[in-house]
Amino acid sequence: MRKKIVAGNWKMNLLPEEALELYRKIDSDYFADACELLVFPPAVYVMELIGQHGKVPVGVQNFHPEESGAFTGEISVSQVSSCGAKYALVGHSERRMIFNESNDFLKKKINAALAHDIVPLVCCGEPMEIRDVEGHVAFVTNQLAETIGHLTVSELERCIIAYEPVWAIGTGRTASIDQAQEMHASIRQWLKNHFGEHVGAVTPILYGGSCNASNASELFACPDVDGGLIGGASLDAASFLKIARSF
Ligand code: PGA
Repeated sequence: MRKKIVAGNWKMNLLPEEALELYRKIDSDYFADACELLVFPPAVYVMELIGQHGKVPVGVQNFHPEESGAFTGEISVSQVSSCGAKYALVGHSERRMIFNESNDFLKKKINAALAHDIVPLVCCGEPMEIRDVEGHVAFVTNQLAETIGHLTVSELERCIIAYEPVWAIGTGRTASIDQAQEMHASIRQWLKNHFGEHVGAVTPILYGGSCNASNASELFACPDVDGGLIGGASLDAASFLKIARSF
């Protein structure tokens, strides 16, 4: 049985009292039997939310793979783990595209996260121009090869994958059921080929990109979709919780 996971990526949204209220609402209404929930608030709120000692784990949207040093504005992997965060997003398309994070740099982040007992939620996904020429499977499996291809089986067992087509993120345009299932099945096959049948079969692969309370149930019904990485719709407790109950 694979884990079912719904993760909220709050991005650069919410003021402090809004973030606390959202976390409290999600945490108090959440019943763990539906699926596992995770939230990724802006870094300035992470410690306070972890300090609520809720049931919903709080992760970071970003960190730097070095332990410490002259990286103004960055947060080190050891700071993240010392603050008690157990999950981190890695490879989100906004980090790749706006902040120029390469596959090589993402590989370092994934290694650093695993070395500090942080579960990397590894994001992959193709831009529209790649899908237009039917290059999406090759593009995404290359992203995976260059970021997680070097891991051992036991390291991969600690990762979560998220497929997020870039053209669906924040656009209101969701992948169709067929498009999502095709890519999730291809990712799972790639994992099986590289790491073995068992780990490929049990690794959670989440869908992200304009997933909301109206379309989550059909997406989550796809055999290889194990939940969602939710942006916009995670900023409202009711819609996020409705998504969590869409399995
Ligand atoms: P969206 O974002 O749900 O707002 O499309 C998803 C994400 O970027 O993780």
